[in-house]
Amino acid sequence: MARIVALTGATGFIGGVLRRQLMQAGVPLRALSRQRDGFEDGTEWIRGTLEDEDALARLVAGADTLIHCAGAVRGGTPEHFNRINIDGSLRLIEAARNGGRCERFLLMSSLAARHPELSWYAHSKFEAERRVRQAAGDIAVTVFRPTAVYGPGDREMRPLFDWLLRGWLFTLGQSDTRLSFLHVEDLARAVRQWLDSPQAPAATYELNDCQPGGYDWNSIATIAAEIRQGPVRRITVPAPLLKGLARVNLLVSQLSRRAPMLTPAKVGELTHPDWSCSNEPIRSALGWEPRIALRNALQERWF
Ligand SMILES: NC(=O)c1ccc[n+]([C@@H]2O[C@H](COP(=O)([O-])OP(=O)(O)OC[C@H]3O[C@@H](n4cnc5c(N)ncnc54)[C@H](OP(=O)(O)O)[C@@H]3O)[C@@H](O)[C@H]2O)c1
Repeated sequence: MARIVALTGATGFIGGVLRRQLMQAGVPLRALSRQRDGFEDGTEWIRGTLEDEDALARLVAGADTLIHCAGAVRGGTPEHFNRINIDGSLRLIEAARNGGRCERFLLMSSLAARHPELSWYAHSKFEAERRVRQAAGDIAVTVFRPTAVYGPGDREMRPLFDWLLRGWLFTLGQSDTRLSFLHVEDLARAVRQWLDSPQAPAATYELNDCQPGGYDWNSIATIAAEIRQGPVRRITVPAPLLKGLARVNLLVSQLSRRAPMLTPAKVGELTHPDWSCSNEPIRSALGWEPRIALRNALQERWF
């Protein structure tokens, strides 16, 4: 029987790039969407949400592989993150078990899950990993924990990179903070290598670009100064100011009924001193190596 790959989050930033890469590789795709339905653009769309068990059953029917990229990255309450990231992931793995054909499940988690105490988001990603593994039965669950992902289509990092190349670097947290980044094309390629591996490892992998030990503010400023051939001025956002902005943002988002990115709960994650990580485990398991360093992406304006 031909392979069917079921994908969630295909209308989002990471899932969208992944869907295009998989389509170009000729992988038969079925994708969950809150808007789309039927065959379109090389994909069989199943209209529904992570809350809709019937839609999830149709999504996974006959699929041997599930890639779970849908998730909440913004939100104003812990319940919002838990409902989508934990409960939604659990409903999906249960649908996969009931569907009877799923052999491998890729959970797109986050490096934030390394520190569940830091934010509502981090906690929900950590718990999703734990509960999905518990509920998986015979299905091999691989967890990817990418660091901050950027690239065409991203709305979070892009403004910061635009400012950086205009000569302004906004710094948060300590002066010796270690940061890491990953280009979305490299992440999508890691997923394809997972898909092509004869056996899916039941393991958790952290992923970042090819900068060992990550970047500090100095190295980011130096890269930007070399590219723009001009000075880069730093604006340090003091923690009390960041917390104040976060409180105001949360209030405004509650009044305007939109999901906020910057909340008081997110500040702990944004100011954490060490987001460096190692690609070594995934390199030895899947042979994946990132190809795009931050310097090249900034140079080529590939973000
Ligand atoms: N971006 C990063 O830097 C980063 C880093 C590490 C990990 N991740 C993880 O990667 C995944 C994708 O992130 P992203 O940046 O691509 O986010 P995104 O652009 O906001 O996309 C989120 C996707 O999830 C879907 N979705 C959200 N709630 C849903 C629900 N209740 N039912 C069905 N679909 C739902 C969205 O559908 P709609 O289009 O209908 O809204 C969209 O397709 C997330 O799990 C995130 O935690 C992201």
